[in-house]
Amino acid sequence: MANIGSSRDGFTSKFGVIAAAAGSAIGLGNIWRFPYILGNNGGGAFLLMYLIFIIAFGVPVMTSELLIGRKAQKNVFGAFKSLSPNRPWYLVGTMGVLAAFLILSFYSVVAGWTLEYVYLAITGSLSGTPDDINNIFTSFMGDNFWPYLWTIIFLFMTALIVLGGVKNGIEKYTKILMPLLFVLIVILDIKALTLPGAGKGIEFLFNPDFSKINGSVVLAAMGQAFFSLSIGMGVIATYGSYIPKSQDLGKTAVSVSMTDTLIAVLAGVAIFPAVFAFGMEPGQGTGLVFKVLPNIFNQMTGGFIFSIMFFVLLTIAALTSSISLLEVIVAYLSEEFNMKRKHAIWSTTLVVSFLAVMCVYSDKVFNNFDFFSSSVLLPLGGVLIVLFVGYVMKRSGVKAELESHGKSIAWFNIFYFIVRYIAPVAIMFVFLHGIGLL
Ligand code: PFF
Repeated sequence: MANIGSSRDGFTSKFGVIAAAAGSAIGLGNIWRFPYILGNNGGGAFLLMYLIFIIAFGVPVMTSELLIGRKAQKNVFGAFKSLSPNRPWYLVGTMGVLAAFLILSFYSVVAGWTLEYVYLAITGSLSGTPDDINNIFTSFMGDNFWPYLWTIIFLFMTALIVLGGVKNGIEKYTKILMPLLFVLIVILDIKALTLPGAGKGIEFLFNPDFSKINGSVVLAAMGQAFFSLSIGMGVIATYGSYIPKSQDLGKTAVSVSMTDTLIAVLAGVAIFPAVFAFGMEPGQGTGLVFKVLPNIFNQMTGGFIFSIMFFVLLTIAALTSSISLLEVIVAYLSEEFNMKRKHAIWSTTLVVSFLAVMCVYSDKVFNNFDFFSSSVLLPLGGVLIVLFVGYVMKRSGVKAELESHGKSIAWFNIFYFIVRYIAPVAIMFVFLHGIGLL
C-alpha cells in the first residue's frame, strides 16, 4: 500500500481491495493475540462475546469507515476535513496515528518472535518434548540480544516495503499466500483435533462458562474485535477511498470480517486441543502460541516443512498488517506536515524502534501499549466514527454512498439505527464498565 494517500490510483480488482483490507486485518491478531487473550479470559464465554462484538460493532464500524473514505476520496484526515470542515473531527485521525505508533511498537516485537521461529524451524531446533519447547521460548525471551535484533529487522522490512511502493506486488502475493496460510491452519486443525485429549480443548473454546464473564473480560473481547479487524483508527477508511463506486461496501465489510473471524477461530481450534493434549495451561499469556504450535508440528509427518512454511507465512501476514500501520503514520506526516514520504518513513521507523525496544525490555510497557491502543483508543475511535456517520453526515448522503453500486440495500435502516443509537452507547458502556467507571 505504499502509495496510499499520496495518489489516487485504485486497486486493480475487486478482490484486490478485499485482499488488501483482509491483509491488514489478518495477522498476529488472529493467530497470536486471539488465542492468548481468549486463554487468559476464560475460553468459550470470551469467544461468544467476541463474536457478538464482531457482528454488532465490527461490521457497522467497518462499513462506516469504508464509506467515509470512499465518499471523501481521501485518507482519513483529509476525509474528515473535507466532509466536515471547520470542526475538529480529524482528531479521530490523530488518535489513529497515536494508536498506530503504539500498536506498531509491540506488534514488531511479536513479529520478531515469529522471525526467530522461522530461524529455529529452518535449523530444526523446534524439536523435543513439550518441556523442551517451553524452554526454547523462555530462554529466547531471556536473551539480551536476539529479541531486539529481530524486532528491528522486522521494522526495517516494513519500512522497505512501504518505501518501495510495491502495492501491486503486495496485492499479487497476498492473493496467493493468505489462502495458503488458511490451508496450513486447516491442516493444523485436523492434526490437533486427532490428538488424544483434544475434546477438552474444544470444550474450553466452544462451551461458554458464563461465570467467567466480567467487565474486563467483555472489554478484552471488544478490544480484540477492534484490533483484529483493524478498525477504529482510519486504516480501513483509507482503503475505502480506493474502492470503486461500483462495489458494495456492506458486502466488503461482511466478507473481510467473516474471513478474519474464521481465521481466528480456526487458529483457536488448532491451539486449544493441543494445549490440553499436552497438559498445558490455556491462560499462560503472550507466549501461548509459540509454546504450543511446535508440539503439533513435532507430531506431524512433514512437520519440519510445515513449521517453516507456517512461520514464514505468519511473518508475511504480520507484514501486510504492519505496512498498513506504518502507512497511516506516513500518510499523516507527509500530507499534514508536507514531509517527504522517505523522511516520514525513516523518522517513524526510528521512533518506533525506540518504543519497540521499550516493549522488549519491559512487559509492563508492552501490556500497557497493547491495552491502551486496543481497549481504549480503537473503541473510542470507533464511537467517533459511527457518530460521524450517524449525526454529522446527511442520511441521504450515507444511503447514496452505500447504494452507489446501483442496488438499493434492504439493511439500510438497521445499519443506520445501529450506527446512531446502539453502537455508540453500547461501545461506551462496555468501555466504561470495563475500566471500572460504571
Ligand atoms: N488487525 C491486525 C491483526 O489482527 O494482526 C493488527 C492491526 C493492523 C491493528 C492494523 C490495527 C491496524 F490498524
